[in-house]
Amino acid sequence: MGNRLAGKVALVTGAGGGIGEATARLFWEEGASVALVDKDGAATEAAARGIAASGERVLAIGADLAREDEAQRAVRAAVERFGGLDTLANVAGVRVWGPITEATTESWDFIIDVNLRAVAYASKFAVPELAKRGGGTIVNVSSSNAIQGRPGMAQYDATKAAVLGLTRSMAYDHADQGIRVNAICPGPTLTHYHVRRRAAAKGISLEAAETEMRAAGAPRVPLKRQAEPREIAYGILFLACDESSYVTGATLMADGGLSA
Ligand SMILES: NC(=O)c1ccc[n+]([C@@H]2O[C@H](COP(=O)([O-])OP(=O)(O)OC[C@H]3O[C@@H](n4cnc5c(N)ncnc54)[C@H](O)[C@@H]3O)[C@@H](O)[C@H]2O)c1
Repeated sequence: MGNRLAGKVALVTGAGGGIGEATARLFWEEGASVALVDKDGAATEAAARGIAASGERVLAIGADLAREDEAQRAVRAAVERFGGLDTLANVAGVRVWGPITEATTESWDFIIDVNLRAVAYASKFAVPELAKRGGGTIVNVSSSNAIQGRPGMAQYDATKAAVLGLTRSMAYDHADQGIRVNAICPGPTLTHYHVRRRAAAKGISLEAAETEMRAAGAPRVPLKRQAEPREIAYGILFLACDESSYVTGATLMADGGLSA
């Protein structure tokens, strides 16, 4: 337990699992009151209970952040419960596979709505609340594939590159309000999402899938392994707290050296 976010209020999107849940937990351990927001309401409730069964300093909010009104409702609920907002971590994201020759209007809408618009919507309603407290921080989760090409996920990679552009311009727009805006680019990270996907594809148990993935590692990554969600959460924490007080508009690569 630390105190990097003691007395602060944070809203973490995508907190129903994976990197978002790990971030919510770490923020809570560092003293913040944390609003966990996710489209999957049941998973969000479970994540919040897992962090603090008593409900102390946690609030679970089920919301589809691809909808502007839902993003507004989520920010409002966090502010009503905790009295303000100091930090927003935009972690929620979705994936689409295939080259753009296979993309459809629906697949573009789906991925842009969550990976780009939801980041902008949550930020839109968070900015005035952060400003009311004299400033704050926004951390946007992009991907190492925002800056590095690869086959098969062009739509996803394009939205993650867009998040970096959004981050840099938001940093300029809101600096005078005392708000710092930064991005983090995770490399391959071992989350339940990937384990579930591999288990389903191969018809094996979750445990077997996770064991296989750990054994396979990440050969293209200099560190030769996937990240644990908490390792990415520590990067988000750095950008969210005062230790990064002279950092804004930046991109932190948390990719095991992949982009080196
Ligand atoms: N895991 C990786 O290898 C990796 C690598 C680079 C970047 N990322 C990025 O990190 C973030 C978290 O990834 P993860 O692996 O933990 O993913 P995940 O799928 O485990 O978690 C994403 C969460 O976002 C939520 N979500 C999806 N659509 C939403 C919506 N419309 N409104 C609210 N919540 C919504 C999901 O319900 C889910 O809980 C994502 O933005 C992802 O693109 C992940």
